Amino acid sequence: MRSFPKGFLWGGASADFQYEGGFDEGGRGLLSHDYETDGSLEHPRHHTMQKSDGTLIKPRSSFFYADPIPNDAWPVFLEDAYYPSHQAVDFYHHYKEDIALMAGMGFNVYRFSICWSRIYPNGDEELPNEEGLQFYDDVISELEKYHIQPLITICHDEMPMALALKYDGWSSRHLIDCYVKYCRTLFKRYGDRCKYWLTFNEINAVRGFGPCGTRESDGAARYQAAHHMFVASAKAVKLGHELMPGSMFGTMYAMSELYPATCKPEDMMHGLLARRENWYFIDIMERGYYPSYAKQIWQHHGFDALDITDEDRQILKEGQLDYIAFSYYRSNTTKAGDPWFNVGGSDNPYLENTPWGWPIDPLGLRYVMNTIYDRIQKPIFIVENGMGAIDQADENGYVEDDYRIDYLRAHFKCMKEAILEDGVECLGYTMWAPVDLVSLSTGEMKKRYGFIYVDMDDKGQGTLKRTPKKSYEWMKQVIATNGEEL
Ligand code: BG6
Repeated sequence: MRSFPKGFLWGGASADFQYEGGFDEGGRGLLSHDYETDGSLEHPRHHTMQKSDGTLIKPRSSFFYADPIPNDAWPVFLEDAYYPSHQAVDFYHHYKEDIALMAGMGFNVYRFSICWSRIYPNGDEELPNEEGLQFYDDVISELEKYHIQPLITICHDEMPMALALKYDGWSSRHLIDCYVKYCRTLFKRYGDRCKYWLTFNEINAVRGFGPCGTRESDGAARYQAAHHMFVASAKAVKLGHELMPGSMFGTMYAMSELYPATCKPEDMMHGLLARRENWYFIDIMERGYYPSYAKQIWQHHGFDALDITDEDRQILKEGQLDYIAFSYYRSNTTKAGDPWFNVGGSDNPYLENTPWGWPIDPLGLRYVMNTIYDRIQKPIFIVENGMGAIDQADENGYVEDDYRIDYLRAHFKCMKEAILEDGVECLGYTMWAPVDLVSLSTGEMKKRYGFIYVDMDDKGQGTLKRTPKKSYEWMKQVIATNGEEL
C-alpha cells in the first residue's frame, strides 16, 4: 500500500456564517445572509424583506435560487422566522474546543473563512474593527499551538449588508476598492502566519442578493458582478504577492464533474458547451484573459457585452492565481436540451444518491482532478468534499457513521490514484466540514457532514455539545498513515 506524497495537507473546511455565529458580537456588522431563513429541499430558504408600502416579501435565495429583489424592498428581521447564521453552531465561543478536536485527528491544515463584516462592519469604513481582527488572531494562535496551518478564504459567498444596500453589491465597481482594502488589512495582519489564501469561494456558482449583494440576478447582472470579482481577486493576488513573498493564491470553484448522458453526438456537444460555463471562470482567473468562447456564453444568457476596461484586462494578466482550488461533492449528467447549470441535470442510472439527491461518484473526483490539471497545469487543492447525511446519535451523542467512512474512503482511493498513477499535483485535501454546521443550500442542521457531532436541531435548539463520531477515529488513522491505510 502506498501513501500520499510527503507533505500532503490533510484537514477540514468551514465558512463563517454557517459555523461561527456571534452575529451581533465583537462589533460584527450584518451580512446579507443574516436575513436568510432556514429551509429544506422542499421549502427553499428566503430573505425576509419589506417593500415601501409595508408588504412583506420572501425572495428565494440559496445555492439553487436567486430571485430578483425589488428596488424598494429592504431587509427586516421577523420575530417568527429562524435565521441560522445568527448562532450557527457557535464556533465563536467554541473555537478552542473545536480546534483541539481537529488537532486530535492530526489535521495539519484548517480552511476557514474570515467574516468580511467582522473586519469592516459596513464594508467601507476608514478603519477596521480591532475586535474582529483580534478574534482571527486568536483562532490562528490556537491553530499554531497544534502546528495546523491556516488556509484562509477571504470571501465565502458573503456580502456585508451595508455594501449590498448602498452600492448594490458587486454590480458596482466601487466594491473592488472595498475588497482590496479589506485584503490589505488581512495581509498586513496575518501575512506572516498564513501562506495559502483563497480570494473567493465557488465564484462560478454565486449570484444574486445573498452572496453578491445585487438586486438583479439575471445573466447580465451575474456576469458583470463576476467580472468585478475577477478584477478584485487579481488586484488582491498582486498585492498579496508584494506584501507576502512566498504566499500562494487560489480561488475556489464548484467543480462537480459534468457527464454527457449518452455518446450521442448531440449530447456530447451539449456537454462540452455546458461545461464551458464553469471553465469560463477558471480560464479567466488562471490564464489571465477572457477566452475566445466568452461571447457565446454571454449570448446564451441574453446579453452581448460586459463593461471591461483595458486596465481591467491588464490587471487580470498580472494577478493570475498560483493554484486551483475546488469543491467536489458529486457529478452531474446532462443531455441535449437541458439548461446549463452548476448542479442538477438528468439522472445518472449508474450512481446512487445521498438523501438530498446528490449522486455519489468517487471516480468522478479522479476524473475532475485530471481534467483540471490537464487544462491548467498548476497545482490543485481539493478544499471541499464530503457527504451530507442524516446521523442518528445515541444518548451520548455518538454516531456510527459507516456510510460517511465508505464515502470518504472511496473518494480518497480515487484521489490517490489521480496523484500517484495519473501524476496530478495536488497540495492537499480539506474535508467539508469537520464539525457539523448549517447547510448552505437548505439552512438545515440535519444535513450533517462532520467527524464531530453537534447537539443542535434545525431550529437552533440543543446544548451545542461536541462528540466525535466513528469517522473521527477512522480519519485519525488515515492521517497518521498519510493515507496508506484507508
Ligand atoms: C459548497 C459551499 O457549495 O458546498 C459550502 O462552499 C456548502 O458553503 C457546501 O456548505 C455543501 O453544501 P450544503 O448545501 O450541503 O451545505
